[in-house]
Amino acid sequence: MTDFHPNSIPSGTQVEVPPHPVWPELTPGEREKLKVRIKRLLAERDAVLVAHYYTDSGLQELAEESGGCVADSLEMARFGAAQTASTLVVCGVRFMGETAKILNPEKRILMPDLKATCSLDEGCPATAFGQFCDQHPDHTVVVYANTSAEVKARSDWVVTSGIALPIVKHLHAQGEKILWAPDKHLGRYVQKVTGADMLLWQGSCVVHEEFKSVALARIRKLHPKAAVLVHPESPEQVIDQADVVGSTTALIKAVHEMDNPEFIVATDGGIFHKMKQLAPGKILIEAPTAGEGATCQSCAHCPWMGMNALQNLEQVLMRCDNEIVIAPEIREKAVLPIQRMLDFAKAHQLAMKDQGNA
Ligand code: 13P
Ligand code: SF4
Repeated sequence: MTDFHPNSIPSGTQVEVPPHPVWPELTPGEREKLKVRIKRLLAERDAVLVAHYYTDSGLQELAEESGGCVADSLEMARFGAAQTASTLVVCGVRFMGETAKILNPEKRILMPDLKATCSLDEGCPATAFGQFCDQHPDHTVVVYANTSAEVKARSDWVVTSGIALPIVKHLHAQGEKILWAPDKHLGRYVQKVTGADMLLWQGSCVVHEEFKSVALARIRKLHPKAAVLVHPESPEQVIDQADVVGSTTALIKAVHEMDNPEFIVATDGGIFHKMKQLAPGKILIEAPTAGEGATCQSCAHCPWMGMNALQNLEQVLMRCDNEIVIAPEIREKAVLPIQRMLDFAKAHQLAMKDQGNA
């Protein structure tokens, strides 16, 4: 049985959720003209776009059409590091831009809006986190990628949802006790699957936290042929109903590869763009975010991911402001646990291939 210590857990900091940004509607003609202007600017600035699956569909299309990428946070980090362009424009949230800068200090990293943060990052301030680590010096510190550069600098390992399970399994097999931050739901899920001894920081994602288990059970009854796909930042009772639990890439792969005609999807609605592109015949249903009488704040749309749009992408490429800067002494420390994750991911994928699982 697992060894879990609920009594020494710090509380996550309360995070204020901004309203979802509303961008002026573009006609199809305006949108195409804007995309042409941005492609020209990308070439002039020797810049490549790296976008997350939760961003606006126009940004996702543009990233792919211009030789950039649309991906989960692990692949965004890998793709950025493999580019020769001198500028990366990261369309996503701030920790993604910071990871790109940490891995590519010689490159200029721009973002459409530097205020695009993440409730997990905001809910894990570096000073309080440092105190938590100081109280448990015998634990290996594993932090989710959704954290600041300062928090990463204090860690032994960085993980994303796509690689958290094999890394924690590996550490558990070595007999290591783990201090995990910041997402309590992902931490609990990883703890349950691996059986590792884990102390959890009590942070959460405001978007995934809102998925409702009772309403989900009702929808499942109405759609008996649907597979339930859940991102592991969701609450336990929602994860318990899942057919597939995984990173954004894993959920997209499931829609593409599974035979079910319908899918109930518990993650940010931005992911539907890629799912529809890869599996146009499948029916996609949003998992409920409001139970009976309840209201949702983000309603399955991350307000910070929503701060990225074609309009402010053009502006940042014109002005070249909104640059990510990281103090060298933080970068030097933060790069080690990120690189450890990337090296592990590479070795793990090779091992999976050798076993015929990839
Ligand atoms: P992925 O790494 O699965 O894309 O998740 C990032 C994220 O922020 C999910 O909310
Ligand atoms: Fe952070 Fe949640 Fe937004 Fe992902 S969806 S960036 S975890 S707030």
